[in-house]
Amino acid sequence: MAASDASGPIGDMLRAEPCAGLAGTCAVPGDKSISHRALILGAMAAGETRISGLLEGEDVLRTAAAVRAFGAEVTRDGPGAWRVRGTAWRSPAEPIDCGNSGTAARLLMGAAAGFPIEASFTGDESLSARPMERVLTPLRAMGARVASRDGRLPVVVSGGALGGIRFVNEPASAQVKSAILLAGLRAAGAVEVLEPRATRDHSERMLRDFGCDVAQAGDLVRLGAHRRLSGTTVIVPGDPSSAAFPLVAGLLVPGSAVTVTGVLANKLRTGLFETLREMGADLRIEPEDARGGEAVVRITATAGPLRGVEVPAARAPAMIDEYPILAVAAAAARGRTVMRGLAELRVKESDRLAAIRAGLRACGVDAQADGDTLIVEGCDGPPPGGGAVAACGDHRIAMSFLVMGLAARAPVTVDSGRMIDTSFPGFAELMRRLGGEIG
Ligand code: S3P
Repeated sequence: MAASDASGPIGDMLRAEPCAGLAGTCAVPGDKSISHRALILGAMAAGETRISGLLEGEDVLRTAAAVRAFGAEVTRDGPGAWRVRGTAWRSPAEPIDCGNSGTAARLLMGAAAGFPIEASFTGDESLSARPMERVLTPLRAMGARVASRDGRLPVVVSGGALGGIRFVNEPASAQVKSAILLAGLRAAGAVEVLEPRATRDHSERMLRDFGCDVAQAGDLVRLGAHRRLSGTTVIVPGDPSSAAFPLVAGLLVPGSAVTVTGVLANKLRTGLFETLREMGADLRIEPEDARGGEAVVRITATAGPLRGVEVPAARAPAMIDEYPILAVAAAAARGRTVMRGLAELRVKESDRLAAIRAGLRACGVDAQADGDTLIVEGCDGPPPGGGAVAACGDHRIAMSFLVMGLAARAPVTVDSGRMIDTSFPGFAELMRRLGGEIG
């Protein structure tokens, strides 16, 4: 990404060129949600946890630095191979800087609240604008003292001596549920989270792997009596939210066939693939050996025509991070795609509803955001492209519009690809290996 002459990239800007066809097999980095949780649970557990396939993106590295500051011993043995020795957490000497990561901030606040310590949490400009009250309210109800000027970072958490809680998880958030469960590990009393709409269950699954009692019945998640964690082995599967980019590129660029191996196939994460199939996508999904208690698949995307669909609000939690790339797929489909129930997109790493709409329009695609509904008018084939897209400091907006550039009639530039490393280090190189020109 070096600055170059007037026709080349400037600073952090990235440009994707229309492409004749993508081909090949690749693996994507480890799942971000599971990587954060492996480090945090490892840091709270007795003994040693061995992690393989850890995502070494900036967000997860923030969590690694944080648990070290809380007193855990964290060792990197090689690419993706980490060991964590847990401990009773201590007050960190400095504020915990969560960078761009909402998952780091919210899960770490929950975990820290269970210990008799004080910790302050900060983040970058984007994270500092995101709502934290949704975590602070239940933590207060459990007995933690939390200080924040306006329900945003910086936040100071003074924890210890927590009681139980019965919490209704609305708006549906796996981060909030996880913060409560992590705080609940060291709380006295019943800890129950009711989920009107199920959210990703990686915390529950991993807590069980660490030896904790977690019951799930209908829409209720409940911590049992045994809440002590013992170190274990965690194998992190590939992130479906990252696999989405090469796979959608494979569907959209005529003549392509792209395979991604080792992809996490948890049903609470695969709403995008279900939606793409409804759009007529040729996605072949074949099981591989399970990893770390999670189903894993190999997915082959073969290019072909797509049609617009209605995506129900009920599916949003299972594909919450995938709407930017779905909107790009919708831009190439025949007819209109309507995506409902997207209010949460306004409080992600950027206001994604606004960023998607602006990006599509810059690329000659008609799109409207009406309340919490996004409507994209498909171009029935390659969209015009040719736009200069503002990534709004958001990794998934940047990657989505670079995929658009590969599949469009004219190149697409994004103003900065710097944040891509938060979740998908090596994205541009991987796309180049498949035959896509991004630079
Ligand atoms: C995540 C949950 C989702 C998702 C985020 C990761 C997690 O956020 O958008 O990227 O790891 O629990 P919400 O819980 O805010 O929906």
